[in-house]
Amino acid sequence: MSLQADLIHIFNGVPFSTRSSPELLRSLEGFQARDDDLLLVSYPKSGTHWLAEIVKHLYSSKVSLTSAMEFGDVSKLEELENITNKRIIPTHLSYHMLPQDFKAKKCKAIYIIRNPKDTAVSLYHYYRENPNLPTIEGWPTYLDMFLRGEVVCGSWFDHILSWEEHRNEMGTLFLYYEAMKKDLFQTVRRICTFLGININDNEIYEICKKTSFSEMKNNVEKESVDPEHTVCALTSNKKLIFRKGTVGDWKQYFTNKQNRLFDEMYNTKMDSSCLAKNIRYEN
Ligand code: A3P
Repeated sequence: MSLQADLIHIFNGVPFSTRSSPELLRSLEGFQARDDDLLLVSYPKSGTHWLAEIVKHLYSSKVSLTSAMEFGDVSKLEELENITNKRIIPTHLSYHMLPQDFKAKKCKAIYIIRNPKDTAVSLYHYYRENPNLPTIEGWPTYLDMFLRGEVVCGSWFDHILSWEEHRNEMGTLFLYYEAMKKDLFQTVRRICTFLGININDNEIYEICKKTSFSEMKNNVEKESVDPEHTVCALTSNKKLIFRKGTVGDWKQYFTNKQNRLFDEMYNTKMDSSCLAKNIRYEN
């Protein structure tokens, strides 16, 4: 059984995986951003790998998709520094913990939002299958932890609110997982407009095909992509990422009472959030 203390440490009040060293987290503040850095931001299990795959396909010139900014030890800063290409940098950091220089340089960021009930279920499975996360007792106990923000990366509510509160300080595009499932073509077009990338409809269709759930999952199973490279700070095993890829799986897990408690907390915390108003729970 994995002990919480081996795998999790608390930094700035937020639980982090020990795969993100405290030294690295401390030194991020001095990180030198570049004007053309692109951040891919998410709370874990919101579709980060999907977004990263789309963005990678959009750039015909050479870009480097890095591992998560907060993953590793202090050598990470040098590793990022040595990249000469345009850097696409994924991160699960809240806005408060994002290195100041990204803000000063007004770097572009794409934030992917997924309805928090499906996110909670997806993270629950991740806890059960990912050896880098502690053992949990079962769904009811886990859901309490999720609502209290005691899971890795902290509270879903605080994460999204931190980015929403500062939405006008950097160029940030907010995308919804559910809208991507419904109309990926439109989402890819929005990303292109945001990044100033000019591609035609056929190319967009091709990207939609290549980034479908089944295609991405098959590629990992056939090992036609590097199964040891993820953009998530919580695993390097890509096989753990592709589970169901659906909207509404939460209905299989939440009891009526859990759903009511979740909604109560959601309505209280997200009352003033404009982003929350667009979240969809259904297909
Ligand atoms: P599920 O566990 O609900 O299946 P992240 O990349 O942030 O870790 O998010 C992982 C979640 O995104 C998983 O959700 C995974 O199946 C889903 N996902 C990954 N690629 C996807 C794709 N191409 N289309 C839809 N969902 C995808």
